[in-house]
Amino acid sequence: MSDIVVVHGSRKKDGNTGTLIKNMADCIKSRGFETEVLFLQEYNIRFIGQCGICYQEGKCMASDDSFQLLEKCFGAKAIVFSTPIYYYSPSGQMKTFMDRFFCKHEEAAKRLENKIAAVILAAEFGEDHCQETISMFRRFLEFYKMRFVGYIAVKATRGDVVSNHAALQSARDLGTTIVNQILDSDSVRS
Ligand SMILES: Cc1cc2nc3c(=O)[nH]c(=O)nc-3n(C[C@H](O)[C@H](O)[C@H](O)COP(=O)(O)O)c2cc1C
Repeated sequence: MSDIVVVHGSRKKDGNTGTLIKNMADCIKSRGFETEVLFLQEYNIRFIGQCGICYQEGKCMASDDSFQLLEKCFGAKAIVFSTPIYYYSPSGQMKTFMDRFFCKHEEAAKRLENKIAAVILAAEFGEDHCQETISMFRRFLEFYKMRFVGYIAVKATRGDVVSNHAALQSARDLGTTIVNQILDSDSVRS
């Protein structure tokens, strides 16, 4: 199990969000922690069916990769949700995966409580276009009683984040915040 799992919701692996993730992950690695990036585009994630069979029979009828990805999220010390902004919203890939948490709702409620969480957003028009998505993530994380330790909302388009040094630094700073929060939680537990 990796210490930190990043849910990567862009259609481009090495686009703006991908570059921000890489900078954050490099910083995390320099502090001795491991990051695993779940690039959603590479997985088969079906829309939620709301069939209710999971409640009756404890299993899901949609045979896709969602449960494997959820297990990685549940097992991590911290989860980072990273998505480009599409029409003031997270990408469809991200939202489709988030809906699937409902398929493991009871387990999610137990295993996500107090888990460290952060958010990375990239938008052509910057933070103003990220407000609704920040609120949505805040409510989602509150719903599962996770600890929202920070976000970055970066103005970027067509891969130009690579030359935005302040944005790359903010991604590394987010990595530092996450590592410090993990170390604090570990010291409270021991
Ligand atoms: C379908 C679509 C909708 C978009 N909607 C917005 C938007 O509402 N506001 C905004 O600032 N940028 C919008 N963008 C631009 C992307 O958020 C931006 O280019 C982002 O940096 C892409 O990140 P990526 O390289 O990680 O995919 C949109 C892009 C696409 C493809």
